[in-house]
Amino acid sequence: MYAVTITQPGGPEVLGWTEVPDPVPDRHQVLIDVAASAVNRADVLQRAGFYAPPPGASPHPGLECSGRVAAVGGDVTRWRVGDEVCALLAGGGYAQRVAVDADHCLPVPPGVALVDAATLPEAACTVWSNLVDEGRLQSLDTLLIHGGGSGIGAFAIQFASARGARVLTTARAGKHAALRELGAEVAIDYDREDFVAAVHTATQGHGADVILDILGGAYLARNVEALATGGRLVVIGLQGGRRAELDLGQLMSKQASITGTLLRPRTAQEKAAIVAAVAEHVWPLIGTGVIRPVVYERVPMPEAARAHRIVEASEHIGKVALVAPTS
Ligand SMILES: NC(=O)c1ccc[n+]([C@@H]2O[C@H](COP(=O)([O-])OP(=O)(O)OC[C@H]3O[C@@H](n4cnc5c(N)ncnc54)[C@H](OP(=O)(O)O)[C@@H]3O)[C@@H](O)[C@H]2O)c1
Repeated sequence: MYAVTITQPGGPEVLGWTEVPDPVPDRHQVLIDVAASAVNRADVLQRAGFYAPPPGASPHPGLECSGRVAAVGGDVTRWRVGDEVCALLAGGGYAQRVAVDADHCLPVPPGVALVDAATLPEAACTVWSNLVDEGRLQSLDTLLIHGGGSGIGAFAIQFASARGARVLTTARAGKHAALRELGAEVAIDYDREDFVAAVHTATQGHGADVILDILGGAYLARNVEALATGGRLVVIGLQGGRRAELDLGQLMSKQASITGTLLRPRTAQEKAAIVAAVAEHVWPLIGTGVIRPVVYERVPMPEAARAHRIVEASEHIGKVALVAPTS
């Protein structure tokens, strides 16, 4: 089969379309003929040499895919050859075939095109585990989502609105109209506005009950300022660096908490539990059209370099899909 490989750490030009050995599924795995994958920021970091795959994972990029089941391992009862699925992967999704644990797969939701389904697993699992498990988001809570135009942000806006939360988001001004359409009540231009002041204005001084943060160090102190009493800051990205100073007195006086998580290196069992919760609680929202995949562009997989350029320039809202050649 062919896969997108990283010939050496570097810019988008280091992505090659290369013949590689076919994956062989284990007893508890399925083999998927891939229809599509999608670009995540983590793939860009991996390509640049800053994010090594966890032990045992494919060295090739790609954290999610959709396609048809081509073979099932001896212990797999849930899926049959020909089923249309999408899957959460630890790597290797930019390829014509992947082998993945059967319980890391989800059915393609009704009404969603097979290619577009590739854009769902990573965002759905990240958003569910961080907003519900870590952030304990309740209906009527105010949620601040940094980077609402990202793949994660576009999904989180829709999910949180569907759960009855009030959503505020930061993004470049050109993306605000689209993010309001997805369900954000307030869009904050982080280039021109102080997001702490904007959050306090929008909430009459209450603050954000939950913040989903992708900036890390650069936003830590201001995020704590923007939190409500009892607020939960959930850090999932370090786009603004990993180090910061924090006035712990402020955190304590707000009875607030900070958590940080990574999805990719979690154990197979932890991922299976998240996928099962997503299937039960999130998939019905997609199947009924309450949440829709936001696909900015569908790029042929061998042109992954072009897709990476789009994502690195932050031209996109939502996801860039990578469509696999059929042979
Ligand atoms: N911990 C985990 O398990 C996990 C899982 C998945 C993703 N993530 C993280 O989640 C983040 C989003 O991932 P993705 O793949 O969805 O990324 P993405 O589509 O590449 O989006 C990145 C976003 O960052 C925004 N941004 C840049 N500077 C900003 C600032 N100062 N304030 C607000 N937004 C800013 C950009 O929006 P503008 O164009 O508006 O600047 C862009 O939409 C990444 O940091 C990724 O590493 C973490």
